[in-house]
Amino acid sequence: MTTLTIDIRRADPDDAQAIADVHHEAWMGAYSGIIPHRALARMVSRRGSDWWSHAIRRSATVLVVVIGGEIVGYATLGRNRARELSQQGEIYELYLKPEYQGVGLGSRLFAAARRKLADHGLEGTVVWALEENTGATAFYEGAGGRDIAEGVEVFDQKALKKVAYIFD
Ligand SMILES: CC(C)(COP(=O)(O)OP(=O)(O)OC[C@H]1O[C@@H](n2cnc3c(N)ncnc32)[C@H](O)[C@@H]1OP(=O)(O)O)[C@@H](O)C(=O)NCCC(=O)NCCS
Repeated sequence: MTTLTIDIRRADPDDAQAIADVHHEAWMGAYSGIIPHRALARMVSRRGSDWWSHAIRRSATVLVVVIGGEIVGYATLGRNRARELSQQGEIYELYLKPEYQGVGLGSRLFAAARRKLADHGLEGTVVWALEENTGATAFYEGAGGRDIAEGVEVFDQKALKKVAYIFD
């Protein structure tokens, strides 16, 4: 048996390629069969290492989960973008490589992301999930989220419902 340490930390620009790889695998795994293939492939190809390097330097806070030196998941977070919701913080994305899902890492990353929002002085958290992404909706409901708003995202003429969960 091998024991590997688990670490959650802020990403730095050197992590960009590894995060791009996690993004690719996790999005294909989560959204194939939900988001039309061409739209999904386009969204994934836009998010290469240059995109991530820029994001880490310039904009949202990016956290990574590292197991035995390998980046296996990431979360991005910052100010809530939906004016109609009073929560101040938002977790924009929370993704794990498929082979690392279901063993509690998502819960740890989610807790770390919420702590980071609180450290930034942002009260309350919003997360959005596509309604058809039942793994994500079960996860946020299990974590105590209340679904309070709905929206629609259109991908290549296919409209998909999204749900906002709030955590106070
Ligand atoms: C959603 C995600 C972040 C959850 O992280 P995880 O590490 O797999 O989840 P955990 O092991 O911490 O599970 C916590 C709880 O969530 C629920 N859950 C997680 N994944 C689930 C699934 N696929 N189906 C049903 N329930 C699920 C369970 O209730 C679990 O509770 P339990 O401890 O009683 O079993 C992760 O599975 C993932 O990256 N999925 C693909 C990408 C994605 O959909 N991200 C969210 C986009 S909005």
